[in-house]
Order: sequence, then C-alpha cells, then structure tokens
Amino acid sequence: MQIERVQLQQHGDDRGMLVALEKDRNVPFEIRRVYYIFATRSEVHRGQHAHRHLNQLAVCVRGSVTIMLDDGSGPVEVVLDDPSQGLLLGRMVWRELYNFSDDCVLMVLADQFYDPADYIADYDEFLREVQGGVYQGELVAC
Ligand code: TYD
Repeated sequence: MQIERVQLQQHGDDRGMLVALEKDRNVPFEIRRVYYIFATRSEVHRGQHAHRHLNQLAVCVRGSVTIMLDDGSGPVEVVLDDPSQGLLLGRMVWRELYNFSDDCVLMVLADQFYDPADYIADYDEFLREVQGGVYQGELVAC
C-alpha cells in the first residue's frame, strides 16, 4: 500500500522548535478532533481496527512508535520518531500500533468526532468490506 507522509515545517530558533498544524495547509482535511496517546507500555498493541469513514493524521511528538498499516494488500510497517513528520491514516486501512517507547506521545488529528460505529474491529470483516470496495476512498497528501 502507498504510505502517505506529511513533512511538517519546523520553526526553530535558539529558544527551541515549533510546528503548526493547519487545516488545508499541511493537514488535508477539516480537523474535528485531536487526541493523544501516552503512557502505553512497550509490549502493548493498540489500534487493531480500521475506520469506514475516518481520516487521521498521526504525529509522534515525543519518543517513537511503530505503526502497521494494511489496506488489504498486506502489511507495511512505519516507524514514527520525528515530531516534524506526520503519517496519514486514511479510511479503510487496518492499523496496529506497537513498540511504544516509554516516553511516546502520539498525537492524532481526525476529521470526524469519535464514533464507535465507524470502527471495524474484526480483520476478516475488514477484508470483506475493503475487497467489496464500498468504502474505499482516496486521501491525497498535501
Ligand atoms: P481505542 O479506540 O480503543 O484506542 P486504540 O485504538 O488506541 O487502542 O480507545 C480507547 C478508549 O478511549 C475507548 O474507551 C474509547 C475512548 N476514546 C474516546 O473517548 N474518544 C476518542 O476520540 C478515542 C480515539 C477513544
């Protein structure tokens, strides 16, 4: 599957670094929700689901995490360890998150409010839906 990263401009000076996230400038969707994951033990696997409609942008603002993505064509692993790099998590992509560093803070921007009904938590059901092509949509990186 195609991995879509977003390079985020860093505004650095002798005081430190700053990254800004802005709708349609470096985030290719309307931001309705932001959440962050932290204090996850390294042996824990999170995610293990897909979303029918949700698009997200994940930024590891501290530490590191591995994200496995699968659009039905097989898994691809991505390591996030750079606060100036975003990873697009499009709709109908199975994702699993693991290898959280102790200090990991993973921030996620989303284009929809939290909706448990949008989750597909069963991998076989995900394959059925993605192969049916009903929900597959393109998300273009900017
Ligand atoms: P969950 O989706 O299981 O997290 P992950 O995919 O990282 O394993 O969410 C964990 C809990 O947080 C669950 O009780 C639902 C809740 N939650 C919200 O209330 N709002 C949110 O935006 C998200 C993502 C989760």
